[in-house]
Amino acid sequence: TPPVTLRRLRTLADEGTPIVMVTAYDFVSGRVAERAGVDIVLVGDSGAQVVLGHPDTTSVTVDEMLVLSKAVRRAVQTPLLLCDLPFGSTEVSDEQAVATAVRFVREGGADAVKIEGANPARLSRLRAIVEAGIPVVGHVGLTPQTATALGGLRAQGRTTDEAVRVAREALAVQAAGAFAVVIEAVPAEVVAEIRRALDIPVIGIGAGAAEGQVLVMHDLLGITEGRSPVFVKTYAAVGDAMVEGVRAYAQEVRDGVFPGPEHVYRAAPEAAAAVRA
Ligand code: KIV
Ligand code: NA
Repeated sequence: TPPVTLRRLRTLADEGTPIVMVTAYDFVSGRVAERAGVDIVLVGDSGAQVVLGHPDTTSVTVDEMLVLSKAVRRAVQTPLLLCDLPFGSTEVSDEQAVATAVRFVREGGADAVKIEGANPARLSRLRAIVEAGIPVVGHVGLTPQTATALGGLRAQGRTTDEAVRVAREALAVQAAGAFAVVIEAVPAEVVAEIRRALDIPVIGIGAGAAEGQVLVMHDLLGITEGRSPVFVKTYAAVGDAMVEGVRAYAQEVRDGVFPGPEHVYRAAPEAAAAVRA
């Protein structure tokens, strides 16, 4: 399978073939995404919570995200590799944003980067990164890095004012040069209207039908603990299977059942006797 290019994504969108995006944070999840045949792998800053145990995405650093990105890069050949620019790594200036994006490409192996928000400063960063030659995906609606300012992790665009705001943001992100936009936690009928006005593909999460969909891998596999947002569908009970597997191992060790005869090496006939002597 040839690597997924921006051109290929454009073709999928034009054909009406949904674009599939999933997150990955390490070599194992990267291999799972590769083998499952997705179109885009996102090294999301959701990895802050999902694999690093931080309380929210604002705590994760560029250096931490780069460790995750490098591991996923080693695993992924076919899907486009998209990396989130974490909170604090683009806020200071356009120069800081470009320098950060360059690190994700050169060190992290990113094919493209994603940046949240659409206020004038965010749009300036987005444009600067595109002008540096790095493809960018926008992210509007619920933007977790600034969730506190948005009133928490809640749906956006349910009221008239908010719906118009999200629509303006999506169009502004397109005008700034993004090749696609993630819209998160926005009512489906509002997203449908935004899509009519937009040329670039929308990758939705909690946004209803769109050119593409994205979910956090650990959510869709049932690995994440606790309650998930309404937009998560769980396709497998992998978390329970993992705990059951480790529990069975612990029980067999304690019962003296593991290791069995099939799990041991054989020595040359006199080797053990020589050790005793
Ligand atoms: O960090 C992330 O996982 C994301 C997606 C959910 C869009 O930004
Ligand atoms: Na993110």
